[in-house]
Amino acid sequence: MTTSPILVTGGTGNLGRHVVPLLRAAGCQVRVLSRKGGTPADGVEHFAVDLLRGEGLEPALAGVETVLHLAGGTKGDDQVTQNLVRAARQAGVKHLVYISVIGADTMPIGWFRTQLAAEQAVTESGIPWTMLRAAQFHDIVLMMAEKMARMPVIPVPGGLQFQPVDSREVAARLVELTLEGPAGLVPDLTGPTVYPMGDLLRSYLGARGKRRPLMPVRMPGKAGKAYRAGENLALTGTDTGNRTWEEFLTERVSAGK
Ligand SMILES: NC(=O)c1ccc[n+]([C@@H]2O[C@H](COP(=O)([O-])OP(=O)(O)OC[C@H]3O[C@@H](n4cnc5c(N)ncnc54)[C@H](OP(=O)(O)O)[C@@H]3O)[C@@H](O)[C@H]2O)c1
Repeated sequence: MTTSPILVTGGTGNLGRHVVPLLRAAGCQVRVLSRKGGTPADGVEHFAVDLLRGEGLEPALAGVETVLHLAGGTKGDDQVTQNLVRAARQAGVKHLVYISVIGADTMPIGWFRTQLAAEQAVTESGIPWTMLRAAQFHDIVLMMAEKMARMPVIPVPGGLQFQPVDSREVAARLVELTLEGPAGLVPDLTGPTVYPMGDLLRSYLGARGKRRPLMPVRMPGKAGKAYRAGENLALTGTDTGNRTWEEFLTERVSAGK
């Protein structure tokens, strides 16, 4: 195992917040990079850097052999990753671990295409790499359900399915991969169950004690066709998490969140 600090980009995010304590528990010194930065803790340093601008990365990367790249948003992840890769190569990084999404190579939608370009920046970086494609995290499905439930009638695209995975299980897998060394593209990580969007919404509404009518709609265009064909799912050759959407919901509701 490397004794140099591990740089976690996006270590303050939903996934990163689970990753950092696991790396600490494994005895690693951790550097966290994000735009807003954070409060230093035992064995954890923070660096406030905007990867989209790509400037000022040198101090965060100095002496770092392993980078776990989790920073991401709704746009610009290709540029973010290209900027990180350039600086990491110059800094002599020996292992770059990247979290991507299932469907990056198949979904004809702008955000997924950006993820594919980010993947390419990693695979063509010349730095030994590991890449894990994960399904949607429970948290993101919850956010979608919360937004949709604000409508008096909820439109539900027919054929839209997800196999949500727990971000803590993704974090645990990423930490294993980070400590094991470069492995290339590893098996996708999905949740245990594939759910139609309508089922996810019904269980969300039930857990929150809300009632809303669901209205089936047809998602148009290439995106609709790809979702109906299940291009965003991984059904074979995957690693599968254990925690179900229902368990996640129960936990959130009992925690009052
Ligand atoms: N959510 C999902 O369902 C899902 C599924 C598969 C893969 N993924 C991938 O997993 C990664 C983490 O997801 P998440 O849910 O943890 O996201 P998140 O909660 O939105 O966290 C994003 C993290 O990235 C940082 N960040 C964003 N833009 C940045 C920039 N330009 N420069 C530096 N730091 C930046 C954020 O901090 P600041 O805001 O302070 O910069 C934060 O720490 C993403 O790359 C995402 O594509 C997500």
